[in-house]
Amino acid sequence: MSAITQQPTLATLRAERARRDPSDMMGLVERFAEQCRDAWQRSASWTLASRPAPRSLVMLGMGGSAIGADLLKAWLEPQLPLPVTVSREYEVPGYVGADTLVIAVSYSGNTEETLAAFEDAHRRGASLLGITTGGTLRQRCAALGVPCFALPPGLPPRASLPYSFFSLLRLLQVLGIHAPDEAELADLLEVLDAGIRAWGPAETGGGEAFDLARALDQTIPVIYGAGPGLATVATRWKCQINENAKMAAASAALPEANHNEMAGYSSPQPQRDYARLALIMLSDDQARVEVRNRAEVTAAYLRERLPLHEAAARGRTRLARMFGLVLLGDFVSVYLAWLRGVDPTPVDAIEWLKQQLAARRGSE
Ligand code: PA5
Repeated sequence: MSAITQQPTLATLRAERARRDPSDMMGLVERFAEQCRDAWQRSASWTLASRPAPRSLVMLGMGGSAIGADLLKAWLEPQLPLPVTVSREYEVPGYVGADTLVIAVSYSGNTEETLAAFEDAHRRGASLLGITTGGTLRQRCAALGVPCFALPPGLPPRASLPYSFFSLLRLLQVLGIHAPDEAELADLLEVLDAGIRAWGPAETGGGEAFDLARALDQTIPVIYGAGPGLATVATRWKCQINENAKMAAASAALPEANHNEMAGYSSPQPQRDYARLALIMLSDDQARVEVRNRAEVTAAYLRERLPLHEAAARGRTRLARMFGLVLLGDFVSVYLAWLRGVDPTPVDAIEWLKQQLAARRGSE
């Protein structure tokens, strides 16, 4: 019997939802649009004392707390009047100084890389802001008189994406760096609402998300982003598949992959070498023609050699087109966890690593 026929149906998984997903990660994905609305609304009252206009913007964060900054950068970079960096290092870039706005994002407030970079930015006299649920980051902000904005508690950091993303957007608005277009936000919510109806596990749902999860079970997915912001969306897919489904995965971007990874798929023994790989091409028919051509030609080449799945952006505007695919990937990752019989919420390996490092710090 093939692996496919042994897979449970969505009806079976739905019936076993409480056992397979005891902390209800799926519920958080189903509430993605609701969380976006809540995040935008709850930050509407945020204010800041006026400060000199920054000449550069650096956002600090790791993992689930960095992805909101990554997506904001990928969405807005073409429009923003200043250079934007998402930094995942212990130190901030050398250009950071009094004319740099540095926003530290840490869900727990206790991530050592983010805290170290925050202190480095403070030493360099940068203009600072914090976004967190608490921890050391909130304490340091209070001690230094740095404005610190609250994320809602009780979420896995990766599921707080709507809150980290909209908190950052709100701060850019309050600082006069970017004025969000309400029509673009409305388009985003429309696409998310439609995605939740189409891909969620409700009676008529599943659709493309569940089909893709069934196809990716027992594979090592490699996700390609080909279109505006889609390299970052591919990163989100990879991280969600890693953390929710506990699967190895990789991500990359077109056009860059055309200049290196393509050659990696030219083995004369594709069946032996790529046995467990499955590729996913995230594409956007509003991408510039050169990128669309690349996506099509690349897909044709890859399809000859190994399984290739495709997902297309939908919506009218860039933000919706990016986040529609983010949502699809989130659903795929939780369905994968359900299919594989792993609890999507705990990330024991990450917690273990943090404990090991804390023990080493304690003995230094
Ligand atoms: O998803 C996760 O749990 C991780 O990627 C965390 O977000 C990461 O370790 C950083 O921690 P925090 O978000 O608390 O700053």
